[in-house]
Amino acid sequence: MICENLGVNSLGHLTFGGMDTVELAEKYGTPLYLMDENRIRHNCRTYINAIRKYFGENAGCLYASKACSFKRLYEIVREEGFGTDVVSSGEVYTALKAGFDLKNAFFHSNNKTDEDIAFAIDNGIGYFVCDNLEEVMAISETAAEKNVTQNILLRLTPGIDPHTYEAVNTGKVDSKFGSAIETGQAFEITKTALSLKNIRLCGFHCHVGSQIFDSEIYIRSSEIMLEFIARVKAELGFEAEILDLGGGYGVRYIDSNPYIDIDKNICELADFMKKTVAQLNIKMPRIYLEPGRSIVADAGMTLYTAGTVKKIPGYKNYVSIDGGMADNPRYALYGSYYSVRSATRPEAPCDMVCTLAGRCCESGDLIQENIRLPHDIKRGEKIAVLTTGAYNYSMSSNYNRLGKPPVVMINDGKDYVAVKRETLDDIIRNDI
Ligand code: LLP
Repeated sequence: MICENLGVNSLGHLTFGGMDTVELAEKYGTPLYLMDENRIRHNCRTYINAIRKYFGENAGCLYASKACSFKRLYEIVREEGFGTDVVSSGEVYTALKAGFDLKNAFFHSNNKTDEDIAFAIDNGIGYFVCDNLEEVMAISETAAEKNVTQNILLRLTPGIDPHTYEAVNTGKVDSKFGSAIETGQAFEITKTALSLKNIRLCGFHCHVGSQIFDSEIYIRSSEIMLEFIARVKAELGFEAEILDLGGGYGVRYIDSNPYIDIDKNICELADFMKKTVAQLNIKMPRIYLEPGRSIVADAGMTLYTAGTVKKIPGYKNYVSIDGGMADNPRYALYGSYYSVRSATRPEAPCDMVCTLAGRCCESGDLIQENIRLPHDIKRGEKIAVLTTGAYNYSMSSNYNRLGKPPVVMINDGKDYVAVKRETLDDIIRNDI
């Protein structure tokens, strides 16, 4: 099976984290997001152990909240020793309400509003990761008004194409994110940041993309960043304390996706960087990684109930479900692949090619095309879409006024609600 935490029990039902998914679907209703707490913790430990082993005890990991953000998740990643990457006042507020110490939070985004900046400073944000000069100036002004010295990193674009899908390609020179090294803007913004009284420049950040399987991408971007650090040291006398290399390691959505050995990747990256800093005559900065997808994707699954099964002879077969692009827009947006199973009969022969369609009012509302399910699948059967822990709940919407599904956590044979299902009253809550 695609994820290690899947199985089949004596009733022939699909299990997730050891629990019967059909029972859970009946208990909580569908659509239903399930998350396996043990798997999240396991994924966090893989990263934190590796980064500390190869880069030393002061290196760290930040959970990229955009992958999935709710209070319980911040508690779990904090317990596992992670800081967090946040991009909005909403993520800051959720982290705060979960008791997260914002000293360990890094505020990203390419356009922080004045309100975001003030709110984050008032709540003691550890670092802003500044995207551009205008933003450095805005943060400097607010910090001066509030009479604080604010730690920042500068987000730079190393000019690397990670060859993943366009929507998540962020390290190229023409990206909307960051200041490019190649154009000289990165150096200029560094000079300015160093001259500002209420700003303390701590180092640099880059993030080249997402769903990356090629470890060379990280080696190349670290080399470009270290060379930049060496140049800044030589020309401006400033030696970066922190280098944050972003997130992006890929996960397996379908059988043809490769496995990534995170420990081995981080080991090779550290070997390369240790050699490079020695050659460049700089000290190794404190290294951070910011995984999102690879922490939560395979810890998640979405359960649906099949509705209409429509066979158009000579054309297509559609299996419609009670959710769709409102709870998982990734196929509609990126054509992303997913593995789909009958949760009720995961071992039944999958002898019908079909499209898994959502219930929203548009033709593009599909979860996956050209998948295989049993030909006699019928209304009421439970269907599982696997590896949905990342960028599903966090990208969900109320399109067609559908309520968002709940997030139910599974932990050592127990289940508990981490996010409640939205009710009809929740849907009209802000209507006047
Ligand atoms: N750090 C920064 C600055 C980022 O922009 C991102 C992702 C990450 C870390 C985490 O990357 P990860 O480890 O999750 O790949 N909605 C898209 C993904 C957008 C990724 C945005 N940035 C999707 O559903 O595929």
